[in-house]
Amino acid sequence: MAYLPPVRFALTAASIGALLAMASAHAQDAQVVKIAHAGPTSGGIAHIGKDTENGVRMAIDELNAQGLTIGGKKIKFELVAEDDAGDPKQATAVAQKLCDMKVAGVVGHLQSGTTIPASSIYHNCGVPHITTAATNPDVTKPGYKTTYRLIANDNALGAALAIYAADALKLKNVAVIDDRTAYGQGLADVFKETAKKKGMNVVASEFTTDKATDFMAILTNIRGKKPDAIFYGGLDSQSGPMLRQLDQLGLGNVKFFSGDGSCTEKLSELASKSPAVGNVTCATGGIAVEKMAGGQDWKKRYDAKFPGQFQIYSPYSYDATMVLVDAMKRANSVDPKVYVPQLAKTNYKGVTAQIQFTNKGELTKPAVTLSVYKNGVRTPLN
Ligand code: ALA
Repeated sequence: MAYLPPVRFALTAASIGALLAMASAHAQDAQVVKIAHAGPTSGGIAHIGKDTENGVRMAIDELNAQGLTIGGKKIKFELVAEDDAGDPKQATAVAQKLCDMKVAGVVGHLQSGTTIPASSIYHNCGVPHITTAATNPDVTKPGYKTTYRLIANDNALGAALAIYAADALKLKNVAVIDDRTAYGQGLADVFKETAKKKGMNVVASEFTTDKATDFMAILTNIRGKKPDAIFYGGLDSQSGPMLRQLDQLGLGNVKFFSGDGSCTEKLSELASKSPAVGNVTCATGGIAVEKMAGGQDWKKRYDAKFPGQFQIYSPYSYDATMVLVDAMKRANSVDPKVYVPQLAKTNYKGVTAQIQFTNKGELTKPAVTLSVYKNGVRTPLN
């Protein structure tokens, strides 16, 4: 057996003093806990991504002002703001980066096409994420304990729009366009299915991409089918120009339906204030901020901090951040391994709702709001 010399520690009074001083300085330092927002903050829907990021920033600033102690340590939350550019590949790279950084939790992503691939990466590294905007039902299908959604999904949005078109507006013939993304195509399929069940005729099915801005060929083809309604599964960066082109083709009286991706404050501006915006009915996956208990106060705080930037889902990303931290508080730990089981048991009174999750990570009581545009201003119907 090899001879190991005895190790000697010479602890002098001075070195003990220095160690104690370091320990006490450390105790006073706050532990930094990173919470990420991941979404498109560049590209065609950067305004929607910025809005959800703002909600997280606002929550973090308010939490830091409270000065929380978790697990016996003073906590300082820090926002890690990541741009996935609305691109599925970039989203998986962002997700891996956030795993490697060992963030405590993620609010995001914003689109279904980015959230679905990112969710399996978060699942593999054990970091929880809450999406406040991705609505494809498949987001929660795998049942990962790390994936949660704070809004209604497209089964609710698509059906609500089709039922409204058939029952309230008595429309008969609808042309359907989608952008071939997980979101747009999925939502269009739900809308079509419900519309048919309601006795409507789907007179055309067309598709485009989430990068296109010229829809003249598609709309000219659709004009020949004489629809009284058009449904678009996609984002406002496409539905804006599409509405303007509908006017140009003399289809300005056709009713226009779309989901939350089009249902933004900015839609009218993106449509160059086209009168066709007056024909829009769109659905979002929650209660409108005007109707939330405490929503008006919340919106005043948001507008003071981020003037002119409100779009749709910032109250939800604000609540998502609060929900992550509420679970950390109940677990008395910022370690995802320890606090994720508490996240699943959430019962949190947020600005947006009383938040509880099903065992798949969906809200137990999702809400849908239908909105129209009056003089270009989004106005909730319910
Ligand atoms: N709800 C939209 C999506 O899922 C933004 O992509």
